[in-house]
Amino acid sequence: MARPPDKTLRPGGAKNHGFWLIFHRPAVYDVRPNYRTQNPNKETAMSRAFNFNAGPAVLPLEVLEIAQKELIDFNGTGMSIMEHSHRGKAYDAVHAEAVANMAKLLGANDDYQILFLQGGASLQFAQVPMNLLGTGQSADYVNSGAWASKAIKEAKKIGSVNIVADTSKEIPTNMPDYSALNYTKGAAYVHVTSNETIAGTQIQQFPKTEAPLVCDMSSDILCRPFDLKQFGLIYAGAQKNLGPSGVTLVVIRKDLIERAPATLPTMLQYRTQAKENSLYNTPPTFGIYILMLVTRWLLAKGGAAGIEKINRAKADKIYAAIDGSGGYYRGGANKAFRSIMNITWRLPSEALEEKFIKEATALKMIGLKGHRDVGGCRASIYNACPAEAVDALVAFMKDFQAKNG
Ligand SMILES: Cc1ncc(COP(=O)(O)O)c(C=O)c1O
Repeated sequence: MARPPDKTLRPGGAKNHGFWLIFHRPAVYDVRPNYRTQNPNKETAMSRAFNFNAGPAVLPLEVLEIAQKELIDFNGTGMSIMEHSHRGKAYDAVHAEAVANMAKLLGANDDYQILFLQGGASLQFAQVPMNLLGTGQSADYVNSGAWASKAIKEAKKIGSVNIVADTSKEIPTNMPDYSALNYTKGAAYVHVTSNETIAGTQIQQFPKTEAPLVCDMSSDILCRPFDLKQFGLIYAGAQKNLGPSGVTLVVIRKDLIERAPATLPTMLQYRTQAKENSLYNTPPTFGIYILMLVTRWLLAKGGAAGIEKINRAKADKIYAAIDGSGGYYRGGANKAFRSIMNITWRLPSEALEEKFIKEATALKMIGLKGHRDVGGCRASIYNACPAEAVDALVAFMKDFQAKNG
C-alpha cells in the first residue's frame, strides 16, 4: 500500500520551500528559528503558520499528521475513512470512540446523550427553541453580544423570549452577573453564551438555574472543566476547539429529548438523531473522525483540567503584554470577563492597527484582525494554539510598540 515518498507533496518539502522563503523575512521579530528548534518535527513545523484564526481555527499538529498518514489507507483497509460506509465496521469504531471520548471529557453520565449534528451552531439557534419552547411558554435569554443576539433573533421566530440582561452594546465589552439575574419562573429554559467570540468575553461562573440551562459553547467548549449536570443542553460548532467545520456537537439531557412536537420535520427533532446515535442519515464522517482524533489528543493532555492550565498560561501572557504596555494596547473586554480563548485589543489608531496586522501577517502570524463589526485586533488562542505562537505574538507586540510607540 505504501507509495514512494513524494517530496513535493509533503509539508515543508521542496514545493513549500519557496513559500517559506517569501514569508521568512528577518524583519521585525524573527520568530521562525525559535519555533523550528522547539518542534522535533522540523519539516512539518517549518511550513506551519502561527494561526490565530477565530474559526475554522488551528488544529493540533499531531492530529493533522495522523490524518495525513491515514488519509489514503485507514487502518489497512485500503481506503480513506471518507470512503467508508457510515454503516460499516471501520467508521463504526471511529464514531463510537468519538462519542465515548467526548462523554469522558465532558464527564457526561447516562442522563446525557451526545449528538453529532450538522448545520453549525447557527442551526442550534433555531433548533433549540423548535424542540424546547412549547406553545404558551417563554424562554429566558441573556444578550451578551453578537452571538447571543443571533440566538435571540432566531428564538423570537419560534416563540416568546424574555431578555433577562443585555450587555451587548457595552464598551468595554461586558457580561452581566449571571447569578444575580431575575430568571423567569416556569421558563422553558435559560439560554446563555459561554464565550462571546467577537467581544472577547467569557462567563466566569455559570448560574444555577431552575429551568434547564442551555449554553452555546462554540468558542470555548472543553477549554476548562465545567459541571455538565448544571446544564439541560449545550451545543458547539466544532471548528474552534473540536475539529473541522461541518460537525455540531449537541449534548442533551435525556429528559429533554422528547419535548419536541411530533409535527416538527424529522431532521429537526433531537429525538430522531438521539434514537439513532447520530446515524439517522449520513453524518459528516470525516469531520467526526478528526474530532475523534482531537478528543484523543485532549485526553492525552489531561482533559479539560489539563488544557485549562495551558490555556490560562497562554492567555495570561497576552493580557500581561496588553496591561504592561502603559496604555499603548487597550484590552477590549472588561477585565472581570476576559476570555481565555479570544483576546481583543486596540492600538492608539486604526492606522497603527492596520500596520500591526500587516507586519504580523508578514511574519506568518495569521488571523489577528478583529471581527469586521468591532475592528481592532483579536488573537484566538484555542486549545490547539501552541504556546510558541503566543510567545511569538507577545514578542512581536513588544517590538512593535518599541518601534511605533
Ligand atoms: C459563540 C458562537 N456561536 C455561534 C457561532 C456560529 O457558528 P456556526 O458558524 O457553526 O453556525 C459562532 C461562530 O463563530 C460563535 O463563535
